[in-house]
Formats: sequence, C-alpha cells, structure tokens
Amino acid sequence: MTDAVVDEIDGRMIRIGDAWLADFASCNYLGFDLDREIIAAVPGYLERWGTHPSWSRLLGSPVLYEKIEERLTELIGAEDTLVLPTITLIHMSVIPVLAGSGTIFLENRAHKTIYDGCELAKVRGATVKRFAFEDVGDLERLLREGKTAAPRLVCIDGVNSMTGNAADVAAFARVAREHDALLYVDDAHGFGVIGERADDELSPYGKRGNGIVRYFDESYDHVVFVSGLSKSYSSLAAFLACPPELKRLLKTAAPPYLYSGPSPVASLATTIVGLQVNETRGDAIRADLWRKTATVLDCLDRLGAHTPNRSGFPIIEVPLARHEDIDAVGRFLFENGIYVTLAAYPLVPRVEVGFRIQVTAANTNAEIEQLVDVLGRLANRFDLQPARAKVRAA
Ligand SMILES: Cc1ncc(COP(=O)(O)O)c(C=O)c1O
Repeated sequence: MTDAVVDEIDGRMIRIGDAWLADFASCNYLGFDLDREIIAAVPGYLERWGTHPSWSRLLGSPVLYEKIEERLTELIGAEDTLVLPTITLIHMSVIPVLAGSGTIFLENRAHKTIYDGCELAKVRGATVKRFAFEDVGDLERLLREGKTAAPRLVCIDGVNSMTGNAADVAAFARVAREHDALLYVDDAHGFGVIGERADDELSPYGKRGNGIVRYFDESYDHVVFVSGLSKSYSSLAAFLACPPELKRLLKTAAPPYLYSGPSPVASLATTIVGLQVNETRGDAIRADLWRKTATVLDCLDRLGAHTPNRSGFPIIEVPLARHEDIDAVGRFLFENGIYVTLAAYPLVPRVEVGFRIQVTAANTNAEIEQLVDVLGRLANRFDLQPARAKVRAA
C-alpha cells in the first residue's frame, strides 16, 4: 500500500490494477473533491483566467486571491491572512523569518515539514530546542530555563496527523503569551473539520470548520495559525493568519510569495466555491463525518482494540501488538478491499507500528460497514493492542 498507482476512482472507491478498494487514506475530509456543485463551477473560472497565469504573487495576483483571503479572514476571525501554494512552503519560508536568530521550541512529534522549516531557521542562526509531545509543562520548563534569545517561537501541530487528537491550544497559547513567545500552529487536519463551539452545533466538531484556535475559543494574540486547503478543501493552496504588518513583511521576505509559481486556477476556484459550500452545507457534512467516524471508533471499542484517538476526529490510528505483522496485515486489508495508510518501522517507533484510517464524508455507509466487517475479521486473525482507559472529548 505504498507508491500505488490508482487507475480509476468511483466516488471513494479506487481501482489499483484489478482490485477495487474502499479508500480510507484520503484527507478530503469534507468530500469536496467529489462535490458536484464545486466541480461544476470550475470551467467558468478556467474560461475567465485560463488554466494557470504563471506570475509569482509579487508580480501579479489574480483578484481571486484577494477574495480568498477576505473570506478566510472572516471565517477564522483573524486580522488578515496570506495565501501561498502549500504549507510546506509556508514552513520553509515563514519559520526562518519569525525565528530570526532567536529560539524555536519545537514539539518533538510535530510534522516533518515543520522540522524542515526549523532546520532552515537553524542554518540562518536560530537555536532549536525540543519539548515532549503534548507536554505544556515541559515547554514551560524550557522557557524558564536560563535566558533564551528572542524572538521565541513555539511550533506545534494543531490536530495531530497521527493521533487525531487536538493540541491543547488554550494552554500552549497561555504559556506562549506569558513568555512573550509566538505560538505557531499547523492545523492542516483541523481546519475544515473542527471549529467554534455553540449550543446549536450539529456535531461535537463545532461549527463552520474554522480551525483549532476557534475550537478552543482562543484569540490570535501571539498565535500564528497556519493551515492548508489541500485536505478538507481539496485544493492546492495554503494560508497563514497574521497581523497586517507581518503580511507586509512576508510579501518581501517569504520567497514563495516572490518567486514560486502560483496555485492553479482550478484550485483557486475550488477554494472559493468550497468556502461557499462550507457556509451553506458544511455543518451538515461535518455532522455526517462525525457519525461515520463514531461508527468506526465504536467498532474498535467493541473489539477491545486501542487507538490513540480520544477526540472523535476522523483520523484513527490502529497500532498492532506485534510490529512484525505489518506486512501480513497490509495484505489482509488490501485483499479484503480496504485501503489505508500503513505506519511501518522505522517511519514510526516499533510500538506504534500499525495502520491509519481516515474517514471522509464521501465514504458511503456501505463502505463504513465493509470497514467494520473487515476490522472484526482482522482482529480475529491478528493481535491488536488492547484498549486502555481513555476519556473521549465531548
Ligand atoms: C500536519 C501537516 N502539515 C503539513 C503538511 C503538508 O502540507 P502541504 O501539502 O500543503 O505542503 C501535511 C501533509 O500531509 C500535514 O499533515
């Protein structure tokens, strides 16, 4: 299940060679990649803009960017936003600018692309210190320990791409503010899925999918919120929320704004229409996604199998009792028509070897039933790690 060539898709079913499989490895959580309203809107944008005006953003930004930034700014409730092609490019260009010759406090399980941004910052003179995953106390200890050069930047994932859990952004933001540090959050997997909480919310994911900062009812004071549109919004683009002064600075200091090719017009179009669909149907889609995810989590509960997922969000890691079983487990899933992401050693530590299920709203109920059935048979054949006591978020 690596380096697969997908020959054809039909909804969330994919064909690899002769095998049709239900795809549980997609990050298109809202199913916008297959949404007829969004697909139908793209040709009109191509007529007006061609496929790809190739100016870097500094040279010429189609007005579509202005629209997207205005709408994103309103949606997440920040002062301003800046759109660049990918999160990777944001990390590589913005982290070094923010860190300067100061100190970065890097969560040790942060996404590889954050690490790469920090490596570049190090070459440019920053010092990097690592703190333990989800451990606000460990971060505080490092911030208190001796004098660290300013500026100080704390880098974390929002919704973690492996555990499916949300970082305690409220606690991290409090500590960052107390120590005059900036909290830099990569919410690639949270934006579009979770958002502001309200009494009339349709699911525990909250409303509007406006990301982890709003989910925790936090402000953007001392917080740089970064996310992408290539997961929930099925579009090649990314953004960061920032005050206007930082946006002005990045327009001359962040190489992707100056030199990189832009997002394709089709992606700008699917972002704009996706943001409209999010306003009209997003919460109903998220309620459906929550229900489908809960069915899979309940199945693991019944099987007595451990998953680190405490949140109910649609990323479900299933670790194996014996890491040596991973090849046979992968074959079993493939032969039974289930496509997931395998997490093999040394990509993850031996105790975490297993597979990751990602649920999207475009997975049909029949596909969810098939997954539940296959998980049951898999648990009869292989040992999964036993469930541990856990408290799920409301
Ligand atoms: C947490 C996280 N950050 C960044 C990325 C990379 O995003 P992009 O494709 O926009 O560079 C990913 C993609 O898997 C991710 O999971």
